[in-house]
Amino acid sequence: MAKTGRGKLILIEGLDRSGKSTQSALLQRQLPNCELLKFPDRSTRVGSLINDYLTGKTQLSDQSAHLLFSANRWELAKSIEEKLLQGKFIVLDRYIYSGIAYSLAKSLSNDESSPEMKSVEWLYSPDKGLPKPDLTLFLSLPTEELARRKGWGEERYEDVEFQKKVRECFLRVLQDIPQDHLEIINVSDLSIEQVKSHIWEVIESKELNKLTTMPLDKLH
Ligand code: TYD
Ligand code: MG
Repeated sequence: MAKTGRGKLILIEGLDRSGKSTQSALLQRQLPNCELLKFPDRSTRVGSLINDYLTGKTQLSDQSAHLLFSANRWELAKSIEEKLLQGKFIVLDRYIYSGIAYSLAKSLSNDESSPEMKSVEWLYSPDKGLPKPDLTLFLSLPTEELARRKGWGEERYEDVEFQKKVRECFLRVLQDIPQDHLEIINVSDLSIEQVKSHIWEVIESKELNKLTTMPLDKLH
């Protein structure tokens, strides 16, 4: 293994309250020289519009909300690339698969939604060109378990029926990721410690804790 090279981009996806934020923070501490980024990033210009939308302060058309979530990723794309090339590791708490799954679920729950919102191709297109994760981890658990977790139900989308749809949509879009870039982890009834070790086993077995000389790919 070369001593120089780029760091790895590791994505953790899952439903609301699936443990993404806990696990991504734990993973950041285990990886060398690692930064954690969370999407949506509510601290940016676009992020503040998203925050107003999620907390119900403002309304947006579905298309416009979808494009804002993507724009929010584009606000940080360059800096993600630069950091990886400087040899930093990056853990992402949500990214493009949340983008597609939530928008798709929303359109499937609404009889009046327009055809583009039901098209995975349309939903995916604004994210084309963003840095491509070296691994996507999906924390999977039955939606009934989510509702029993703390802090549930405060924001838009935190509703069991809706999360069921989001889960189906996630499983559908994750099918497009090549097998060696995807790990679905069943976290049902596992402790935080157990999920943490499971994730670490995957990271070590795929050598994602080491720098690589492989070029950084873009989503296409
Ligand atoms: P979330 O990670 O749940 O934030 P918090 O931990 O602060 O509650 O993200 C907020 C919501 O945004 C979540 O319900 C998923 C949704 N979302 C999208 O609809 N599209 C996207 O592209 C992203 C990144 C998130
Ligand atoms: Mg949430």
